[in-house]
Amino acid sequence: MTTNPIIIAVDGLAATGKGTIARRLAAHLDFAYLDTGALYRAVGVAVLKAGGDPADAQAAQKAALALNPSSVQALMDDPALRMPAASEAASKVAAVQDVRDALLKFQKDFAVHPPAGKKGAVLDGRDIGTVISPQANVKIFVEAASEIRAHRRFLELQGRGENVTEAAVLADMTERDARDASRATAPTKPADDAVILDTSDLSADQAFEKAVGIVEKKIK
Ligand code: DC
Repeated sequence: MTTNPIIIAVDGLAATGKGTIARRLAAHLDFAYLDTGALYRAVGVAVLKAGGDPADAQAAQKAALALNPSSVQALMDDPALRMPAASEAASKVAAVQDVRDALLKFQKDFAVHPPAGKKGAVLDGRDIGTVISPQANVKIFVEAASEIRAHRRFLELQGRGENVTEAAVLADMTERDARDASRATAPTKPADDAVILDTSDLSADQAFEKAVGIVEKKIK
């Protein structure tokens, strides 16, 4: 007999800190971790590499169907996925229903059958608590003020040697937020039973500690 794995959904907009929180939670609990944004980034980058337009639904669906789940882990570490062009392309392909459908099964399977015999899975994204795993044991929706998120992303890009201004980062982020939150399919929003975690005034360590507290309350 197998026991059901524990599923932790960490959703939120870009640069709220959700990725760091989710990754650290997975390490802390010894659970499997899936960065679902990387799937959309991989699809967006594949379309760009093929010379296509990420907003073209057909090109985006083709790239999503060609994504090989067994090579996903290697893809996640591709630095090309972290470039601003990848963020924009990902946000565009993510608005295409056929792309979301193509990526659905892999994500659901990962949550229900975490790899390497792990007892649970942490998935971070936009629609984990609402669409991928509405049955998740814990749902955290991470928020932060947009200026703070833009500042964090600016520092991150600058640290990688990118030539960007903070104003441009904020403008790109505002555009992407609007697309991610207003799209017809699986818009970014908290599940009714999600706990909101606002990281605006928290350090990374403080945000992680709060997330641990939320998890412990739910699964202990
Ligand atoms: O979390 P991220 O910035 O890596 O996500 C990249 C894009 O992918 C983002 O603009 C929205 C989209 N995305 C999504 O629609 N659903 C998810 N579960 C994860 C990401």
